[in-house]
Amino acid sequence: MSRRRQIYEGKAKILYEGPEPGTIIQYFKDDATAFNAQKKGTINGKGVINNRISEHVFTRLAHIGIPTHFIRRLNMREQLVRQVEIIPLEVVVRNVAAGSIAKRLGIEEGEMLPHTIIEYYLKDDALGDPMVAEEHIAAFNWAGHDEMQDIAAMAIRVNDFMSGMFAAINIRLIDFKLEFGRIYDGDYSRVILADEISPDNCRLWDFTTNEKLDKDRFRRDLGGEEEAYQEVARRMGLLNGED
Ligand code: C5P
Repeated sequence: MSRRRQIYEGKAKILYEGPEPGTIIQYFKDDATAFNAQKKGTINGKGVINNRISEHVFTRLAHIGIPTHFIRRLNMREQLVRQVEIIPLEVVVRNVAAGSIAKRLGIEEGEMLPHTIIEYYLKDDALGDPMVAEEHIAAFNWAGHDEMQDIAAMAIRVNDFMSGMFAAINIRLIDFKLEFGRIYDGDYSRVILADEISPDNCRLWDFTTNEKLDKDRFRRDLGGEEEAYQEVARRMGLLNGED
């Protein structure tokens, strides 16, 4: 395992060179960070659960025609993905006010937004991932005009699909973060969904009780984060070999 060349170590994942050119292995750690890594900890078993949840979501998104980097899960903590050139944006989709938008705009957490909102943040740890406008993205050429159209269209489709998927297991999809990457075919490039989708980067509330089933349990010192992640996986039918 350790003979592979490590390409990058992030806050929650390690990337290794994959077995074939153009592939990468994503290793899911139990490490958790918040507030731009000012708060650090571990959530036991998180890597195993996020690997499974992300596999499940990416597989189902592929079924509805969303192109993704996911190839296959390799083992408990690793998945094989396509190597992409990461677009340096975090794409946040919000259905209900929570977290930074609630704070920034003085909206009560839990208030339904008038309609779904997409926000863009520059992926830059040193700057603390500042929010940027499409004007900035175009001016600094972080993504092209056509790429932004594809990103927004995919973000909305992912939101529609996931809102329904989670509603079916009595979970409200409050908001989530996506990342996209480019793959090249000669001179031509296209944008595909990358990174992961898991309770680390979604807000998931129980529909009936509003109980938080996501990383806010860690961010806000609520406790019970292991159980919350497991509960999401259980409702998705991913424990005990079901799927
Ligand atoms: O903190 P904020 O309210 O802006 O987060 C919006 C959504 O994006 C949340 O679901 C959060 O988990 C996710 N997010 C993330 N990584 C970040 C910032 C936010 O996954 N660096």
